[in-house]
Amino acid sequence: MSLMNWIDDRFPATKMWNDHLAKYYTPKNFNFWYFFGSLALMVLVIQIISGIFLTMHYKPDGAMAFASVEYIMRDVPYGWLIRYIHSTGATAFFVVVYLHMLRGMMYGSYKKPRELIWLFGMFIYVALMAEAFMGYLLPWGQMSYWGAQVIISLFGAIPVIGDDLTLWIRGDFVIGDATLNRFFALHVIALPFVLVFLVVAHILALHEVGSNNPDGVEIKKLKDADGVPLDGIPFHPYYSVKDIVGVVVFLFFFSIVLFYFPDGGGYLLEHANFIASDPLKTPEHIAPVWYFTPFYAILRAVPDKLMGVGTMGAAIVVLFFLPWIDRCKVKSIRYRSIVFKLNLLVFGVSFVVLGWLAMQPATEILTMFSRIFTFLYFAFFVVLFVTSKNEKTKPVPDRVTS
Ligand code: HEM
Repeated sequence: MSLMNWIDDRFPATKMWNDHLAKYYTPKNFNFWYFFGSLALMVLVIQIISGIFLTMHYKPDGAMAFASVEYIMRDVPYGWLIRYIHSTGATAFFVVVYLHMLRGMMYGSYKKPRELIWLFGMFIYVALMAEAFMGYLLPWGQMSYWGAQVIISLFGAIPVIGDDLTLWIRGDFVIGDATLNRFFALHVIALPFVLVFLVVAHILALHEVGSNNPDGVEIKKLKDADGVPLDGIPFHPYYSVKDIVGVVVFLFFFSIVLFYFPDGGGYLLEHANFIASDPLKTPEHIAPVWYFTPFYAILRAVPDKLMGVGTMGAAIVVLFFLPWIDRCKVKSIRYRSIVFKLNLLVFGVSFVVLGWLAMQPATEILTMFSRIFTFLYFAFFVVLFVTSKNEKTKPVPDRVTS
C-alpha cells in the first residue's frame, strides 16, 4: 500500500485535493479581475510570515516600542526588509481587496446563490480595517498615537455609554502603555485568527456554489454525461498555473514600492510617524492612511459628531446589504443597463475623490465637495434599489462567451 493510501485511510487528503483543486470546476472565461482573490490569499500569507519575524524583535511597551522599531530598521539583519514587506503588504492588501470587491460589484458576484460569500467578504473587510488600524499604533510614532486618539475618541460620540466605552477601549484615561499592549495582542493573535477563519469560510462558501464569471452565467446548469460543467475546467492545473502570472506581475509592482518607495512619499508611511509619539504635541495635520480616507472624508463631511460617526458607519454597513439592494436578476455588467453602468462609475469615482479629499485640509470649499460626494456615495445604493427591479437588460447567453 502506498503512503498516500495509508494517509487517505486516515485523513481525506486526496479527497480534499480533488474537491478543492483537481476536480473543482471553474468557469473557463475568467479574466484579469479574477486574479485578486488568489492575490489576497497570498498577501495574507506574506503578512502573517513577515509579522511573525517582526514580533521576534518588536517590544510592545510604551517606553520601548518606538526604539525597537528603529532597532529593527537599523540593527536587525534585514530588519528593514521585513518591516517594509509588512508595511507595503498592508497597502497591497487593501489595493487587492478593493479591486476584488469592485469585481464582485461589476459581475454581480454577491447575488443569489453567493450572498454568503459576499457577507463573509464584508466581515473580512471590517476585520482587515481593524487589523490595519491596530497595527498602525504599534510603531508608537506621532501618527500612531494621534491617529488612534482621533479614532478611539469617535466612540465617545455614542450617547450614554460613549465615555465609558472609550475608557474601556484605551484601558487608561489617555492612550498609553495599556492601549499599546492590548492592540498588540489583538493585532498579532486575535484578528489574524479571525481573518484566517473568515477566509476559510469565504472559500468554503465559494466552493459550495461555485465561482461566478464575467458573463454571470451559472456553469452548473449545463453539464456533460459525467456531471462535469460544459463550461468548466479543473482549477488545478489550469488556474493554479494562470494565477502564477498574476503573482509575478503583482510581485513586480510590490517590489518597486518595497525597494524604491517604501514610504510612498508619506502616503504609505506618514512622515510624522518617524517621530516618537508625544502626548503633549499634536501634529498639524492628522489624516489616516489612504485606505481609510474615503470613510474619514464622510465623517468630516457631517458637522455633528454623532451624526458623522453614524454616517461613516452606515457607509460600511450598507455594503453588507448589497445582495438585497440590487434586485436585478442579471448578474454581469456586460448585460446590464446604462443606468447601472453609470451609477457604478459615479460610485467608484466618489469613493476615490472622497479618499483624496480626506487628505486635504478641511477648507470650506473642499468640505462642500466632501458633502456632494458623500451624497453621491449613498445615492448609488438608492438608485440601485429603485432602478434594479425593472431594469432594461440585454439577453444573457446560455453559455459563457470566451
Ligand atoms: C483576505 C481577504 C480575501 C481573500 C483572501 C479572498 C479570497 C477569495 C478567493 C480566493 C476567491 C476566489 C477567486 C476569485 O474569485 O478571485 C474569492 C471570491 C470572492 N470574494 Fe473574496 N477574498 C477576500 C476578501 C473579500 C472581500 C472583502 C469581499 C467583498 C466584500 C469578497 C468577495 C468575494 C466574492 C463575491 C467572491 C466570488 C467572486 C465570483 O465568483 O465572481 N472577498 N475570494
